Amino acid sequence: MLRPRSLRALLLAVLAGLVMLAPAAPLTTPAVAGPDRVTLIRPEAGRPIVIGHRGASGYRPEHTLASYALAVELGADYIEPDLVSTKDGVLVARHENEIGGTTDVADHPEFAGRRTTKTIDGTAVTGWFTEDFTLAELKRLRAEERIPALRQRNTLYDGRYQVPTLDEILALQVTLSRRYHRVIGVYPETKHPTYFRSLGLPLEDGLVTALRRRGLDRSNAPVYVQSFEVGNLRALRHRLRVPLIQLIDGSGAPYDLRAAGDPRTYTDLLTPAGLAEIATYADGIGPAKDRIVPRDASGRLLAPTPVVRDAHREGLLVHPFTFRNENQFLPLDFRRGADPAAYGNAFAEYQLFFEAGVDGVFSDNGDTALEARDAWVAARSHRAA
Ligand code: G3P
Ligand code: CA
Repeated sequence: MLRPRSLRALLLAVLAGLVMLAPAAPLTTPAVAGPDRVTLIRPEAGRPIVIGHRGASGYRPEHTLASYALAVELGADYIEPDLVSTKDGVLVARHENEIGGTTDVADHPEFAGRRTTKTIDGTAVTGWFTEDFTLAELKRLRAEERIPALRQRNTLYDGRYQVPTLDEILALQVTLSRRYHRVIGVYPETKHPTYFRSLGLPLEDGLVTALRRRGLDRSNAPVYVQSFEVGNLRALRHRLRVPLIQLIDGSGAPYDLRAAGDPRTYTDLLTPAGLAEIATYADGIGPAKDRIVPRDASGRLLAPTPVVRDAHREGLLVHPFTFRNENQFLPLDFRRGADPAAYGNAFAEYQLFFEAGVDGVFSDNGDTALEARDAWVAARSHRAA
């Protein structure tokens, strides 16, 4: 018998299939007040989704409106903001609350005194932190490429873009959905939720408010909410109707479990019992790639694990991270040459994971992911015919 979560996943899949058969819908929903609503339809329909990881971070400084817009232009189904809080409680997109590596804050003498060392999730981190800046102050900064040694071309765009707020990203989602005549999804991640809650700056309140304000708190909204922690997803289950995704890192344990003395690790969460537990509050998992196809110590691929099969048995979607074109991030099997910044055979990696049965991919290079996905879907249809 189907469990409630499995039934929910099935209903979502059926809905998505019906949507694909329906004539193109208008992008505005007259029944819902407000000028910034889009028709709330999932873009996926029996094909893996392409999630623009931090936007199109293979081509632009990550977590900027330019990066998200390019991801959509390249064909991504979803854009992915990582969310942290400002001092005045505004949600903004940064991979970390430490912003020394992704903005020009070090070039602002007026902020030199804000450089400090903090303990984030048990680790000492030195730099500048979003929670020490008001939104107005943060807006004076400009984004910079995180990994200039690998992505030198992206440094062309250093200094051009602001740190965006969640609300600006949701507005962009509407603008781009209209521009490209398709529904763009948004896939926000709460970063360090226990830490921000301890500061009196809970991320969940702003996220819930923003989604509701845009009419996006519904089970068929083009939205997934993700977290590496467990507790805030459990709590969000009671506050949001959108699907939730439990992130699974390559090693370690969810910080909130660790802080509470709970010995469970991410590996424990991936056992059949762990996945059954996740299915009581989430709709999918977002595992590190190695959790699906591990690599040996040299970086060479090993046989796939049963994670995709076991997760699907629990009605859970599987959206692994992170797919990138550069040799540095590819398994040894797919590298080309010795330059870590050079592109390897990224198509082969996508093919491997699509064959493994994943339901979506977080990608820095949305165009590569899209071409790989469409080729795989076409080949599968050809095989089935
Ligand atoms: O959210 C999926 C993936 O983005 C998790 O890794 O560190 O890039 O946020 P991270
Ligand atoms: Ca993320």
